[in-house]
Amino acid sequence: MSVVTSARHGDIAVISINSPPVNALSHAVRAGIAEQLTKIKSDGGAKAIVLICDGRTFVAGADITEFGKPPQAPGLSDVIAMLETNAVPVVAAIHGTALGGGLELALGCHYRVASPDAKWGLPEVKLGLVPGAGGTQRLPRAIGPAEALKVIVTGAHQPAKLGHQLGLIAELVEGDLKAGAIAFAQKVAASGKAHPSLRDDTSKLTATRADRSAFDATLTEVLSKSRGLEAPVACAECVKLSIDTPLDEALKAERATFLRLVAGDQSKAQRHLFFAEREAARVPGVGPDVKPRKVDRVAVLGAGTMGGGIAMCFASAGIQVTLIEQSDDNLKRGLGIIRKNYEASAKRQGRDIAGVDKIMALITPKVGLEHVADADMIVEAVFEEMALKKTVFTALDKYAKPGCVIASNTSYLDIDAMAAVTKRPGDVLGMHFFSPANVMKLLEIVRAKATAPDALATAMAIGRRIGKVPVVVGVCHGFVGNRMLAQRSKQTELLLLEGALPHEIDAVVTGFGFPMGPLAMGDLAGLDVGFRSRKDRGVRAEIADTICEAGRFGQKTLKGYYRYEEGRRTPIRDPEVEAIIVNASKKLGVTRRQISEQEILGRMIYPMINEGARILEEGVAARASDIDIVWINGYGFPMGKGGPMHYADAVGLAKIRDDLAHFAKLTNDPTLEPAPLLVKLAAEGKGFASYKPGKA
Ligand code: 3HC
Ligand code: NAI
Repeated sequence: MSVVTSARHGDIAVISINSPPVNALSHAVRAGIAEQLTKIKSDGGAKAIVLICDGRTFVAGADITEFGKPPQAPGLSDVIAMLETNAVPVVAAIHGTALGGGLELALGCHYRVASPDAKWGLPEVKLGLVPGAGGTQRLPRAIGPAEALKVIVTGAHQPAKLGHQLGLIAELVEGDLKAGAIAFAQKVAASGKAHPSLRDDTSKLTATRADRSAFDATLTEVLSKSRGLEAPVACAECVKLSIDTPLDEALKAERATFLRLVAGDQSKAQRHLFFAEREAARVPGVGPDVKPRKVDRVAVLGAGTMGGGIAMCFASAGIQVTLIEQSDDNLKRGLGIIRKNYEASAKRQGRDIAGVDKIMALITPKVGLEHVADADMIVEAVFEEMALKKTVFTALDKYAKPGCVIASNTSYLDIDAMAAVTKRPGDVLGMHFFSPANVMKLLEIVRAKATAPDALATAMAIGRRIGKVPVVVGVCHGFVGNRMLAQRSKQTELLLLEGALPHEIDAVVTGFGFPMGPLAMGDLAGLDVGFRSRKDRGVRAEIADTICEAGRFGQKTLKGYYRYEEGRRTPIRDPEVEAIIVNASKKLGVTRRQISEQEILGRMIYPMINEGARILEEGVAARASDIDIVWINGYGFPMGKGGPMHYADAVGLAKIRDDLAHFAKLTNDPTLEPAPLLVKLAAEGKGFASYKPGKA
């Protein structure tokens, strides 16, 4: 059956798109709309047309899978031109999400009506693109250039209600959308008025043409957040054109920009991430037949840095939380921090402080592990000590109800060992949140040896419910993210020892696109944690340890690898640190040398990729793209580079292999020798993307 059909309802023709899952504008859909418009015209008699979608959503955009393939007529712009110049008015009826090309299609219609819970937006920027079918020109004409700029540069989904207020949506339809849209179409057809076309309507541009200050202020604000990405800047440039460039000329410029970006590396990387995130949801061994268990109440153990943030994640999603500590004092302190965080975000977002009480009421503070008894899921976030974790898991086995999923938030420890002290290892797994837990998107879900598929499915489902990006990983020291990070940390210490200074390393890493370099990051997170862990393990890092021995634990002591002024977070170079570094080189007999930016970059990134190769080969990650999702959402890897493994494929594995072999010789460190999988794929001229999924 055709994916686009039409039917008559009296003198209103209704075109329906039915192309699951999201009615993307594939060639068949574009051709189908064009065909139906032509048919309705030749049939005659229709006074207006309603364009509506079956299934879960209005058109969610161009078909991303067609990008990079030869274009097939009719193009989306051709279809939009047909709608815009149609003799009888066309009403777009929106439910679900009208996104990207979907919204552009609706902007080509004369009117838009929507269900009150519908969303709209132009998320192309998230795919490294500008809207390519008139969005940057017609949206400013619909809602004004400054508002359109915000919508386009952030790519965020907007509520229908806002669209109605801004004049984009003519009417919100309660109840049956199709019936409401037909009634609306009858009304406008009978009105005898000329039907508005955004092509001819410049009324919303007038104010900005007269005074550009508001637009320019928004422009500066949105561009300050572009973080080295081309697309936000290109979007802003296109929207700027909408103010006074003739429409057809501006549309041509927009199209040229779209075509330039779609062929570029950043957009390829961002499209890779779009599909990678969805692929990460497919867990080997957990098919669609595996149903998650029901979770109404969660118990969180420990109200410290992580436990507090984790409790917030659940409460913010409306889930009841029992927050358990060892003492009332600890509970009071933890709850105080949670409240302060909620109040600060309510203030920032201009929300009512009363809402905070409502959320806080979802958190029940308790002392004693026996209070886990009514929880459907437990997330343990007590101190990082195996002996303590085992004691806690033994107690949980006694108190938790049957079927309760028991998770540890451990950063490094062996989940199998925790599972082994219980009589229900199938219910045990890791749920590794990232700090600050209420903000960071990544959730590593650690599958232990005996973890049951439905326990895993439960953790994945709850992860999504609380707005995280869950990725399943296997048990090993540090899982995927921290295990790879350890390679970077090791190289950071070595580079300092061999001749680099903190600001030089950080400049290279931020130049690559990370929001912070490793040393500034260490100062922010606190250097004492690693110091303590090295002491426990009996390892010494001469520079890092000397810095801590000097009482420099990072920002919290106003001194770390840099110094800080009271109340400010800007790292300032500190001669005292540079002396510590130079002395450490002398002490260990290392002759300092000038290290090139290229070498610094190679040693910051390639050893992590090498570890990623080992992780893949061991099956700790199911596929290379899962590793990318971990690094993008947990560690600020630059989005435009698509994650470490995608970046490796873009650079070429042969180069990475050769550089690693060179670094291994240079530093006399056999762990830098290229991993077997990297060597194999490089020899075959392949990339990590081609590596067949293993089992996480
Ligand atoms: N093209 C191709 N496939 C798409 C797609 C698109 N635009 N949007 C979603 N899909 C696919 C997904 O890959 C997924 O496939 P899978 O089941 O095989 O993994 C399936 O549709 C369902 O998607 P989700 O799992 O994401 O479903 P949700 O219900 O969670 O979300 C959504 C629905 C909000 C529509 C979300 O899919 C989304 O944000 N889609 C992308 C929207 C977008 O970026 N549109 C702009 C495209 S670029 C464009 O339009 C250019 C134009 O200006 C010329
Ligand atoms: P923290 O020291 O801030 O908090 C731990 C809390 O657990 C303390 O408040 C303590 O009183 C409480 N606690 C200890 N024993 C308890 C018991 N028997 N019953 C109830 N509460 C108990 O530690 P943090 O940083 O929150 O770490 C917790 C866990 O999260 C660790 O396993 C850590 O490795 C992991 N983690 C830490 C991250 C971080 O950045 N801090 C990031 C990701 C994971």
